[in-house]
Amino acid sequence: MARLFVALDVPRPVRRKLLGLMRPRPGVRWVREEQLHLTLRFLGHVEEAMERAVRERLDAVQAAPFSLRLGGTGVFPGPARPRVLWVGAHAEAGLLSLQQAVEAAVVDAGLPPENRPFHPHVTLARLQRPDTAWIRAFLRDHVDFEAGSFTVGHFALYASTLRPAGAVYERLADFPLNA
Ligand code: 2AM
Repeated sequence: MARLFVALDVPRPVRRKLLGLMRPRPGVRWVREEQLHLTLRFLGHVEEAMERAVRERLDAVQAAPFSLRLGGTGVFPGPARPRVLWVGAHAEAGLLSLQQAVEAAVVDAGLPPENRPFHPHVTLARLQRPDTAWIRAFLRDHVDFEAGSFTVGHFALYASTLRPAGAVYERLADFPLNA
């Protein structure tokens, strides 16, 4: 069984801008450059037959390429208990229609629907210590942060393997946008 998710890649110039935010700090585990992504749908552990069904449905997704702009910073689940530090994505129509098409595809394949709201973001760091003063300063300093726009021309299916040093992601398949 593989632990799967569907995500968008972040092109190199935008990744470089995100890397510019990452200063070494105890208790802050920054995401490595090649692992930066925007999750459209987390699938969890999936049997092989279900993975095949999901891939087939994802192959049939009809969506047009769109422009995506990353900017702003925030924390999950919230400032009182920051665990994940992220850069936001402006929720424009192209992104939302792709996310809805991916959701419909995975439900059509037989997975249960996602009932949590979609908060498009790129995780920058996982916070192992609740250093709320540092987080508050980081969010204040980067309130106007913009990482730039890019054209999304494909999405991808990834496997996530949990390792003691953090999850490692492997790209399993690419799905071009060509509606
Ligand atoms: P994150 O970036 O906010 O951590 C692989 O784990 C990807 O799926 C990550 O990008 C993670 O989001 C996302 N994801 C969404 N829901 C998840 C869940 N319930 N458990 C683990 N990862 C989840």
